[in-house]
Amino acid sequence: MANSTDQLIFDVDFARKQFPFFDINQSDEWAFFDNAGGTFPCRPVVDKLEHFYKNNKVQPYGDNALAHAAGEQMDRGRKVISDLLGVAMDTITIGPSTTQNLNTLSNACTGFLSKEDEIIISEQDHEANIGGWERVAKHTGATLNLWKVNESDGELDLAYLEKLLNNNTKIICVTHSSNIIGTVNPIDQIIDMGHSFGAKVIIDGVSYAPHRWPDLSDTKADAYCFSTYKTYATHQGIMYVSPGFLEMLEPQCHFFNAYRPWSQLDAAGPDHAGIAALAGLGDYFEILYDHHFEKADLPLNIKASVVSNLMNSHETSLCKVLLERLTHLPTRIFGKNSMQGREANIALISENHTSARLSTLIGKKGIATKHGHFYAYRILKKMGLNPDDGVLRLSFAHYNTMNETVRLINALTNILVKA
Ligand SMILES: Cc1ncc(COP(=O)(O)O)c(C=O)c1O
Repeated sequence: MANSTDQLIFDVDFARKQFPFFDINQSDEWAFFDNAGGTFPCRPVVDKLEHFYKNNKVQPYGDNALAHAAGEQMDRGRKVISDLLGVAMDTITIGPSTTQNLNTLSNACTGFLSKEDEIIISEQDHEANIGGWERVAKHTGATLNLWKVNESDGELDLAYLEKLLNNNTKIICVTHSSNIIGTVNPIDQIIDMGHSFGAKVIIDGVSYAPHRWPDLSDTKADAYCFSTYKTYATHQGIMYVSPGFLEMLEPQCHFFNAYRPWSQLDAAGPDHAGIAALAGLGDYFEILYDHHFEKADLPLNIKASVVSNLMNSHETSLCKVLLERLTHLPTRIFGKNSMQGREANIALISENHTSARLSTLIGKKGIATKHGHFYAYRILKKMGLNPDDGVLRLSFAHYNTMNETVRLINALTNILVKA
């Protein structure tokens, strides 16, 4: 289907056909809005995973054809992820999760940090980009500075960062977007501010990447992390580290593997099948590209960006309707009250129900959501919430439909207005 560029509409029915989950009956019963917890995997990924497990589940890179094929599939998975991001394969570590990758990265910084140095962490972040840095600060004597959020709305203020920065600042850790309030942070500005003091800037893109595929071809970030189980693929953590930053880090792998840049920060050892299956993500973006645009011989990162813009407009249009309706219900909604500058995750609390009860009641109506602090414990505490009950989070993916959104709105209205 070729479209003129200014009238593109995302074909959600076509996209859903690429997901095994929507082949089965359950998909009529369930409207799924816990996508920030993890998305469904697309068919090309599932097919590649199955192929690997059925045909080549052997130790890869061994001295036989089976092992060669396994190694080739893994190489392909790594190459496709690098191409999708527009960066060299040597800059990418594929680990078990972003939590593990950031933990490994923070350990790898121990060698160049000392007690004169300072690390900035943000109160808005998921614990994955906080805890490891806290431990490293403790062990090296470096000072840990907290970039606090505003108590009223959980937003990060650049003026606050400016006050924290000085010539001793070595590392700044911040999320690309908040997995609670949904705000997309101005990371380019943050990176420039950090670099002007010679600091390395580490971005957690886990919440952002499912809504807008990160093209890193011209990124100035020193490290950028996200998790592919939230971008319709297998359960892996992807970590880009710039070549200059990698040089400063102490390898965390077996010493005899340290000659391979992509092994240096892989302390766990790779999940062979999971990495091989990532090649299917490239196929998925290609399939969507070819469906919506004239076939073109473009780099994969460009195709992924263009397709992901379409996905994003679709999600945004659904979320706009939900946001508008929510303002008429007895709820406190977190984050911006329009979709400008926010991603398609909406967190709220109700005046009449705990978040746990709300999530359970809505689940009984065939709507899958989740409540809690989502490991962003500190921002919830700061905003005066009980992190254990937390918020109800309604998180969208590009495969959600308007029909599902209306079901969600009706269910919420029914529960909240009847209460
Ligand atoms: C914003 C954010 N950062 C980091 C993580 C941790 O990712 P992983 O589960 O891959 O460790 C999550 C997980 O939900 C997240 O939402």
